[in-house]
Amino acid sequence: MRKLEAHMSLNRRDLLIGGSSLAVAGLAFGHPATAVEAHAPSQRESLLLDSGWRFHEGDVPFPAILSQDDSYDNAKAGKAWGAAAPTFDDSEWPIVRLPHDFVSFQPIEEHYNRAQGYRKRGIAWYRNVLRFEPDDTAKHIELQIEGVATHATVWYNGNVIAHNWSGYNSLYIDLTPFTTYGSELNTLAIRVDAESMEGWWYEGGGLYRTVRIVKRHPVHIVTDGVLAHPVKLASGWTLPVEVTLYSTAKSNRVVSVKVSLKDKEGTVIDTETLSVTVTALDQRLARLNLTHDSPELWSVDCPTLYTVETCVMDGDLCVDGLVTTCGFRTTRFDAKTGFYLNDKPLKIQGVCIHQDHAGVGTAIPDALWDYRIRRLKELGCNAVRCTHNAPSSIVLDLCDRYGLLVMDENRLFNPSPEYIDHVRWMVRRDRNHPSIILWSVFNEEPMQGSAAGYEMVRRMAHEVKLLDTSRPVTAAMNSGMFSAINVSQAVDVVGFNYQQDKYDAFHKAHPDIALTSSEDTSNYSVRGAYVTDQDKRLTSGYDDPPKGWATHRGSWKMIAERDFIAGGFVWTGFDYHGEPSPWGWPTNSSMYGIMDLCGFEKDAFYIHQAQWIKTQPVLHIVPHWNWEGREGQPIKVMACANSDDVELFLNGHSLGRQVVDKYEMNFWQVPYAPGRLEALAYKAGKVIARASVETTGVAVGLKITPDRETAKGDGLDAVAFRIEAVDARGRTLPTAQNTVHFSVTNGDIIGLGNGDPNSAAPEKGNQRALFNGLAQVIVQTQTRAGDLILMAQAEGLKTATARVKIEPTQAPSRQATTTSVQVLDYWYDAPPEITREDALKNRLVNMTLWHDFGPRELQAGQTRDGYTLVSARYTPFAKVQAEGGSLDFPRLTGAVEVYDGTKLIGTKTDPAEGFLSVALPPGKGERRVNLLFRTLADTPYAFQQNVIVRQRFQAF
Ligand code: GAL
Repeated sequence: MRKLEAHMSLNRRDLLIGGSSLAVAGLAFGHPATAVEAHAPSQRESLLLDSGWRFHEGDVPFPAILSQDDSYDNAKAGKAWGAAAPTFDDSEWPIVRLPHDFVSFQPIEEHYNRAQGYRKRGIAWYRNVLRFEPDDTAKHIELQIEGVATHATVWYNGNVIAHNWSGYNSLYIDLTPFTTYGSELNTLAIRVDAESMEGWWYEGGGLYRTVRIVKRHPVHIVTDGVLAHPVKLASGWTLPVEVTLYSTAKSNRVVSVKVSLKDKEGTVIDTETLSVTVTALDQRLARLNLTHDSPELWSVDCPTLYTVETCVMDGDLCVDGLVTTCGFRTTRFDAKTGFYLNDKPLKIQGVCIHQDHAGVGTAIPDALWDYRIRRLKELGCNAVRCTHNAPSSIVLDLCDRYGLLVMDENRLFNPSPEYIDHVRWMVRRDRNHPSIILWSVFNEEPMQGSAAGYEMVRRMAHEVKLLDTSRPVTAAMNSGMFSAINVSQAVDVVGFNYQQDKYDAFHKAHPDIALTSSEDTSNYSVRGAYVTDQDKRLTSGYDDPPKGWATHRGSWKMIAERDFIAGGFVWTGFDYHGEPSPWGWPTNSSMYGIMDLCGFEKDAFYIHQAQWIKTQPVLHIVPHWNWEGREGQPIKVMACANSDDVELFLNGHSLGRQVVDKYEMNFWQVPYAPGRLEALAYKAGKVIARASVETTGVAVGLKITPDRETAKGDGLDAVAFRIEAVDARGRTLPTAQNTVHFSVTNGDIIGLGNGDPNSAAPEKGNQRALFNGLAQVIVQTQTRAGDLILMAQAEGLKTATARVKIEPTQAPSRQATTTSVQVLDYWYDAPPEITREDALKNRLVNMTLWHDFGPRELQAGQTRDGYTLVSARYTPFAKVQAEGGSLDFPRLTGAVEVYDGTKLIGTKTDPAEGFLSVALPPGKGERRVNLLFRTLADTPYAFQQNVIVRQRFQAF
């Protein structure tokens, strides 16, 4: 007998069970929290696939293939085995929401890889069941996985559809040829191998970026298929638009491509249309041109964005539309005088960033990226380097919107076909972002000073240029730049990682090569620590010179004093999990950040503000002024100021006025006395700013500050809450370490942190200790009305609550998913009998000699009245065996009795076609379902749709 196999099937009720909201054609949006790309009204639907995911931590080994038959099957399309098979029982796997970094849930333990933050990585599986409507048959259906870490294999309906060996690129896969519609279901299975690593920092694991299903007209714009990047002319601007079309239509189609440039108010500036023939199953490039005489320029201070609306027109109908964001700006690197934005010199004041955050690891909601980018703007930073990989697209959207320059970086240094595809993907996806000023092909590769390295970069740079000639290619070198043949000869701008003592020599030797610091500083500090103590794993916030690296102050001075250095990127903007330094365990995150893992400012924040911000006064005193027990002893005080002079006062007594050192900051040794330490900043003799720190009283209560006052009730938005302990006068206690418990109304805690690089406490749950006065709780909204309320409680302290107003918002369009169901599609029918009793005897007869009974076909009636038994053998999914479920017959014609073995469990008396659902009792192991049809002469009978074994109702 052939083994029972199943396809998935479903009826409309499942859509409701799955809680899915179908997209309304013509109303598709990008991510509601932050997206700047949307679709022009068209038939395109962009559906989030973030729910319904069954998750299994650990591998599910494939069954050994030993027999001839299995070997035959294994070689066939749609016949994937084990957990990749549509028939696989995943009913007991928990359901998770995306983005999902499964590594972030692992405990921090000393025996795991230090570079990856001492967390277990491992292998995991994700499965989902998708339903498409019958009218989707006319569409092109694409799966888009923005990133999956690290090595992934993807199956769809038992077909392997992708192998992807990097956690930092996107996958776009045409599902159309494999897809079934209506009551038939589609199974997606993804095996993720995060034992594999591509970095020396925490990389997370799993489906940690957005996953979408995009449905488009057969003739459509391919993903990342619009290039719209303005070019300045001697007078005015031109905007060449290249649109890549593809067609799954059965014949060639003539369509017109219409592109319109719109300003931020939505006013159309220019429009052009071009008629093209798109050959079936082929790509076609349409080149158009738009112009603007005097656009508002994009800059870091005023990041004005425009949109290009692209429509594929069939007659008057826009059948596929896309809105692409662009910005009008020029960039230029000059070998002698550095970087220019819009023909004005601009020193690059950048930071390097990785892509993880406290509590959530790499599964960062868009809103949390928004918080991080806002923090960088507050820092006075004007650029980020996405180290050492292309980031989530939301990061670039936000950099466009907030005004940050970007060095976009490729992960794997390798010009072989598979990896060149990653470079191409990065450039195609990102080349419209006005924020991007540099493509980086590598970071610190050992071959950088060799002919092989040179040849590799030459090829990779060439691929970049085929797609974008407007931006220079760089590579972040940390040696080899003086070798006879080296990478610096194959790039447009040379990036120096550190090597600050070689700036002058290189520039002297190559006065015509543009140079930037691609990475510098790497000084350590722990927020709120003012001594470096190896035993306690603490590094001080005074920016003391680190071994082997530079200080924040000295490093910037090296850059700022040299016009030929375009700028720099401090290692790093934020601490990140993994790469603990300068020491290892129990330290499990880096200490390099200007901010900690939560985005709380360390003292380096103020040093850089003083160095970088020119348009408003900066004044900050380091350290805090709670030094009980140190009375009379000298405390080192640093003032970070950007004024002419700065004067320090303790309890009203001047401790001296100093000329501000704009790079090194200003220092005093102050004998400690409790009270108030105040600084005054002077410009042209006048006080322009005051700052103070005060000795606080004891902690009496807690204080909560959300990063925003309103959030969206869409289940995607997230709020970062800052938690502090305060004294009776509401002043923050900089040394508080209280354990705080949290409870939330109308939200879910998705992560916790406190910026302590030495804490191995879990980052999930509902409690966290303050670390040097601060902790952070990240709460995701739910899809319901009602304000988000966070309550914080700590022993002996007054409880605090904070309320974030939830704004009603349209739920994002989601792909319909469902619980796993089992389909019974191999049935056999016994010879017809005259009497009911004889037919019932067949319930116990071995059915292998009977006929196949084709489900989903109306059977011709028997020649005379009687009874026919129809049977199927199956092993219900584990959840159904344990809890029971139901047997559903979506379209059943004929009068029928349904038996679970010999036990009657349901009856349908009306012979007309109808829906029947009968409860299935729990029970272990294989069983048989018997249907006794009352067959009337010449009257057809059947079940015309797959029979489904369903679990008890399960909400997502
Ligand atoms: C650099 C490297 C970074 C990070 C840093 C730590 O050499 O590019 O990824 O490891 O060192 O100081």
